[in-house]
Amino acid sequence: MAEPKPTATENEISRDRLAELLNEDLSREYQAIIAYVVYSQVLSGAQYMDIAAQLELHAKQELDHALIISRQIDYLGKMPAVTPQPVRTSKDPKAMLRFDLENENETIRNYRDRIRQCEALGEYAMAEQIRQILTQEQDHQIDLATALGIEVPDVSDASRGRALRKRR
Ligand SMILES: [Fe+2]
Ligand SMILES: [Fe+2]
Repeated sequence: MAEPKPTATENEISRDRLAELLNEDLSREYQAIIAYVVYSQVLSGAQYMDIAAQLELHAKQELDHALIISRQIDYLGKMPAVTPQPVRTSKDPKAMLRFDLENENETIRNYRDRIRQCEALGEYAMAEQIRQILTQEQDHQIDLATALGIEVPDVSDASRGRALRKRR
């Protein structure tokens, strides 16, 4: 026997909420684009050359993410947001990298939730698109943690709230 169908209203509210959350994701993608554009150019010093080149690549990947997320919001019948989350700046290269890492941690937590939410709504293709974005966000996280000389932060559900552990 088929599962009872949710009422149109319930379904709409859930899809509306998903669109809202995707708009928050989009604002974080805009934030990431801006941060990586700026940080990749202002990070100077021989020890930061490699990471500066990686940040430039991140900037381009974040733009791809913003396009994918906007397409999903449009598909859900909503208007994509136009406002980035605030971008923090610092003259200290380590602080810049730490800001980026904290943002990536937050982004990863959110996309993990979003995949579950998409699947709960039966939006499997959307979940798949977000999974691919998540893979790149995790690579960004690894690049930043490596440049900072720290362990990759554990942002799984089990560790929520746990502070970054420093290796040295
Ligand atoms: Fe991204
Ligand atoms: Fe990222």
